Amino acid sequence: MEKIHGGDIYSFNRKIIDFSININPLGISDEIFSVINNSINEITNYPDIECGALKNAVSQQENICKDFIVFGNGAAEIIFNITNAIRPKKVLLIVPSFAEYERAADAVSAKKIYYFLKETTNFDVLENILTYIKNDIDMLFFCSPNNPTGRCADIELTLEIVRKCNKNNIFVVIDECFMDFVINSERYSFIPYIQKYNNVLILKSFTKIYAIPGIRLGYGICSNNEIIKKIHLTRQPWSISVLAQKAGISALNQKNFKDKTRSYVKKEKEFLTKEFHSIGITYFNSLANYILFKSEPNLDKKLLDYDILIRNCENFTGLSGEYYRTAIKSHSDNKILINALKNTLNKKS
Ligand SMILES: Cc1ncc(COP(=O)(O)O)c(C=O)c1O
Repeated sequence: MEKIHGGDIYSFNRKIIDFSININPLGISDEIFSVINNSINEITNYPDIECGALKNAVSQQENICKDFIVFGNGAAEIIFNITNAIRPKKVLLIVPSFAEYERAADAVSAKKIYYFLKETTNFDVLENILTYIKNDIDMLFFCSPNNPTGRCADIELTLEIVRKCNKNNIFVVIDECFMDFVINSERYSFIPYIQKYNNVLILKSFTKIYAIPGIRLGYGICSNNEIIKKIHLTRQPWSISVLAQKAGISALNQKNFKDKTRSYVKKEKEFLTKEFHSIGITYFNSLANYILFKSEPNLDKKLLDYDILIRNCENFTGLSGEYYRTAIKSHSDNKILINALKNTLNKKS
C-alpha cells in the first residue's frame, strides 16, 4: 500500500511526536476509554448491522432523520461506498484535497477533472467553480473544511454549487469530517439543507474530533433513500465493530466536549501562527485543527532529528514539496514543534 497519508509512526523504531495527523489535541476522553475497556467482553458477538443505538444517537445530535444515516469503517470507507454506488464516468475534484477522492475515482475508472485552488486567493473555492459544473460531470467531491488548507466555503456558495449540480444531475459529496473543529460552523455546514437536496451526501467522522482513529468510525448523511440502499447493497454488513458502536454512543453522550475542543484549538492556533509569523514562516489561515504552511525543501526530514513528524504535502495534487501541514496539538507539543522549527531554520541562515 502506497504511503500517501500522515500517521506513519510505524516506520520508526522510536517514539515520534506525530503532527502529521489531525486529531483532537484533548485526546480520547476518559468516558470513551472506559466504555471501550468495559465492552471488551462483547467482542464475542457480531456487531448490530443496523447500528440501531448509534443511529438514534447520531440522529438526535445532528437533528436529522434516522433513515438518512449510513455508517462506515471510518469516513474513508464511505468515500469508496458512495463512489461505487454512483459509478461516475467523470468526477470533478477540487485540489489540493484529501487523496482518497482521487483513489475512489480511479477505482471505478472515472475520468478526473480538476479545479485548482490558488495560493493567491488563500486556497478558497471561488464562484468560478460554477463554470466547471457541466452536465458531462457525474460527481463532485467538496471538502469543507478542506484538507490540507483548512478553508471552508460560505454556505451561500455551497448552496449555489449544489443547486447547479442538482440541475445537471451531478452527485455531490460534501466532506465535513473536520467541521466539528470550526467555530461558527453554522456559517458553513450543509447539514440543515440535506433534506432538500437528494444529490448530496455529507461525510462526518468520529476519528478526528473524538481522537479515536484506530477505532474506525464515520457516517454519511443523505436524504436520497435509493442511494443509501445502493450503498448497503455494495458492501459487507459488519464493517462497524461492536467497540466502534459503543465508542460512538459514548462520544455523543459527552457534554461540552466540542466547545472545549474548539476553544483549545483556537488558543493553540493563535500561539502557533504568532510563532510562525515571528519565525518568518508563510502560513494559510485555517478554520480547522491543522495549518498549511510553506517552508524550505526537506523540512519534514530535518524535523525527524527532533522526533517530530509533519505532513509533507508534495503528494497532494496541486501542491509541491515546499508545502507542509501540521496538526494543532497540545501546548507542550506545540512548543516543541516551534523550538525545533527555530533550530532547524536558523541553522541554515
Ligand atoms: C478530509 C478527510 N475526510 C475523511 C477522512 C477519513 O476519516 P476517517 O478516519 O473517518 O476514515 C480523512 C482522514 O484523514 C480526511 O482528512
